[in-house]
Amino acid sequence: MLLKEYVLISFAAVTLTQAIPWRVKCPNVCVCEIKPWFTPRSMYQEAPTVDCNDFLMTQVPANLPEGTQTLLLQSNRIAKIEPGELEHLVNLTELDLSQNSFSQIEDFSLKNMNNLLVLHLEENQLTELSGGGLSALRNLQELYLNHNRLNSISAGAFSGLVNLLRLHLNSNKLRTIKSEWFGTLPSLEILMIGENAVEIIEDLNFKPLINLKSLVLSGMSLKEISDNALEGLDNLESISFYDNKLPKVPKMALRRVPDLKFLDLNKNPIQRIQQGDFTDMLHLKELGINNMEELISIDKFALDNLPELTKLEMTNNPKLSYVHPSAFRLIPQMETLMLNNNALSALYRKTIESLSKLQEISIHSNPIRCDCVIRWVNTNENRIRFIEPQSTFCVDPPEFKRQNLRDVPFREMTDRCLPLISSEAFPSQLATEIEESLALHCRAFAEPDPDIYWVTPSGEKLLASSAAGKYRVRPEGTLEISNITTSEAGLYTCVAHNLVGADMKSVTIKVSGFYPNNNENIQLFVQEMEAHHIVLSWIITSNIISSNVTWSRTMSNSSLNSGFTARIPAGVHMYNLTHLEPLAEYVICVHVSYIHLHYRISCIRIRTKEANLATGSSEIRLQFLITLTACAFFVATSVLCLCGLVSTRQKVQVEHSSLALCMQKNLSISLHGIYPPFVKHWEHNNSGKTIAVEVQSTPLGPSNDNLCEAN
Ligand SMILES: *[C@@H]1O[C@H](CO)[C@@H](O)[C@H](O)[C@H]1NC(C)=O
Ligand SMILES: *[C@@H]1O[C@H](CO)[C@@H](O)[C@H](O)[C@H]1NC(C)=O
Ligand SMILES: *[C@@H]1O[C@H](CO)[C@@H](O)[C@H](O)[C@H]1NC(C)=O
Ligand SMILES: *[C@@H]1O[C@H](CO)[C@@H](O)[C@H](O)[C@H]1NC(C)=O
Ligand SMILES: *[C@@H]1O[C@H](CO)[C@@H](O)[C@H](O)[C@H]1NC(C)=O
Repeated sequence: MLLKEYVLISFAAVTLTQAIPWRVKCPNVCVCEIKPWFTPRSMYQEAPTVDCNDFLMTQVPANLPEGTQTLLLQSNRIAKIEPGELEHLVNLTELDLSQNSFSQIEDFSLKNMNNLLVLHLEENQLTELSGGGLSALRNLQELYLNHNRLNSISAGAFSGLVNLLRLHLNSNKLRTIKSEWFGTLPSLEILMIGENAVEIIEDLNFKPLINLKSLVLSGMSLKEISDNALEGLDNLESISFYDNKLPKVPKMALRRVPDLKFLDLNKNPIQRIQQGDFTDMLHLKELGINNMEELISIDKFALDNLPELTKLEMTNNPKLSYVHPSAFRLIPQMETLMLNNNALSALYRKTIESLSKLQEISIHSNPIRCDCVIRWVNTNENRIRFIEPQSTFCVDPPEFKRQNLRDVPFREMTDRCLPLISSEAFPSQLATEIEESLALHCRAFAEPDPDIYWVTPSGEKLLASSAAGKYRVRPEGTLEISNITTSEAGLYTCVAHNLVGADMKSVTIKVSGFYPNNNENIQLFVQEMEAHHIVLSWIITSNIISSNVTWSRTMSNSSLNSGFTARIPAGVHMYNLTHLEPLAEYVICVHVSYIHLHYRISCIRIRTKEANLATGSSEIRLQFLITLTACAFFVATSVLCLCGLVSTRQKVQVEHSSLALCMQKNLSISLHGIYPPFVKHWEHNNSGKTIAVEVQSTPLGPSNDNLCEAN
């Protein structure tokens, strides 16, 4: 007991930790105490305080004790301070008039307040700040004007406030920001001006604020930060653009603030972080890219040369589905990488290896596909700590679904895996208007890295880094369509492929309500015919949702034996049928489906050559067309259904030997990747059950991988 008292007393001798009574004649309803108080510069004081908060008073109480240093009049109904009411309080350092009824600054008489450091006027009804109204407060350090209705501030409104350190102007009705307001505030360090409906920060808006350290521009309606908007803020350390409408990182503006340490861009409709967005910010320590509804991709060199960056937070971005393997370059100090709650199916080992000082990472709450891309997680030798490993689960493939990432037998997997285009990358349907421009971001994780191309409605194949007319495909796979017209309406397909296989995702684009109606015939051509293979090509002058080639041998009793099917990626119009029997007759069909589930099928019947004639391969180049049957019919299901089949198919990669295993597990086997040169096929028995899968050697080398898929 004694000891406790002793500790308390000795502590009080250093700083007053709680209020003690102040024995003066105190106005009726108020409480007078001596309380600990800190100046805006964090200097400690023991302040004689009069607390008259919350009494619905309409005027300042009379007989305030002379030595009052802090006067709290919050939540009353005071609308005016008459001359003489406060002038005797020569030691007043803080005056709180928040939540009262002031409507104009002329209603305060603020003479003789040479010691006033902090003035609270928030939550009143001020609409205008005219010139010079506060000029008597030459020692004021902090001014709260937030949550008023200010729509106009005149040029000299803050004149005289040469010592002001902090200015709170947030939550008002300002529509523009003017640099003339700030000309008389050379000491200002913190400016809070968020929650005003300002759309543009114009050049030199803050130019006079050479000592500003922190600028808060959150919750405005900012759409644009002009390139020189932050010019002059040579000492700025922290800036917040939280919750605005910025469509891209204001990279040029950010280059004007070389001392920036903390940058908050959370909650802006930015779609991509691109090369040059964050570059050479030599003092940046922490970066926030969270809660971005539209963010899809972190592109190559998105963060580049940030020597002091230690923490990167990119979380809660519901569409963020891609981080390029070289997204980060020259970030030697990064220790913490937060990537939880995004739409990432994987993260490349290379991304992690580029961060040599990385200590912890969080990737939980992402739809992780547990295949070879992410297998580094189990071989990382504990260099990196995983945050919340117990909630880091696989979503795909089906056999590992809901398994913890730590428990997946990654070591048994191959080091190559199929591309997977994120279902969040772009929608499957879009409606736009004439003269609009569009950007569709197609990204895919795969090992090795996939190549991406796009197929336009007219069937044209656009490779990455190419441009044609109104189309432009960026190296990372973004298709840009500028100044769109109805001729650009139709089906667009992105194909991501590597030597293992391919994935496709399509989007139908309506332009001002228009969508073309394709209904054409397929023309077939035999390009090459030998004893063991036939090269078939076909002409379709539009993009299609899916196309398959099927073939089967006709038997002497004229029935067909079990056939083969190969899925063909969009934009490919040729197929090499191999492993054929010599001198045998085959029926080969090309099936395509357009939008509206409108199918067409064209078939030919053709006989292969004799085996010993195979040497004279160049002698006969047949080029003829036989269309046996061509028919079109509707299937009464919706379009989306088929799009879904193509793009959300779940993929499992297994070794050749696991094929039997798949079958034992009673999974049906089907092709779920599309293989260059697109030659995987499978065989069905009479009841339609798959009985064999055959994989053909490809020009890129023989593939040993077979695939099986759970239905
Ligand atoms: C004002 O503060 C000074 C310094 O603390 C003190 O000496 C003086 O007595 C105070 N004035 C009044 C009226 O209390
Ligand atoms: C868009 O195309 C139309 C004609 O197709 C043309 O008149 C217009 O000037 C173009 N607009 C732009 C911004 O290029
Ligand atoms: C046709 O002949 C093949 C083998 O020549 C045989 O396997 C098949 O059962 C026959 N089909 C019919 C319908 O007779
Ligand atoms: C088709 O495949 C066969 C057998 O693999 C090969 O000899 C032929 O060159 C291929 N033709 C084309 C056009 O790829
Ligand atoms: C092609 O095959 C796939 C897989 O079996 C199927 O889903 C699709 O409907 C087929 N497309 C056509 C046009 O037959």
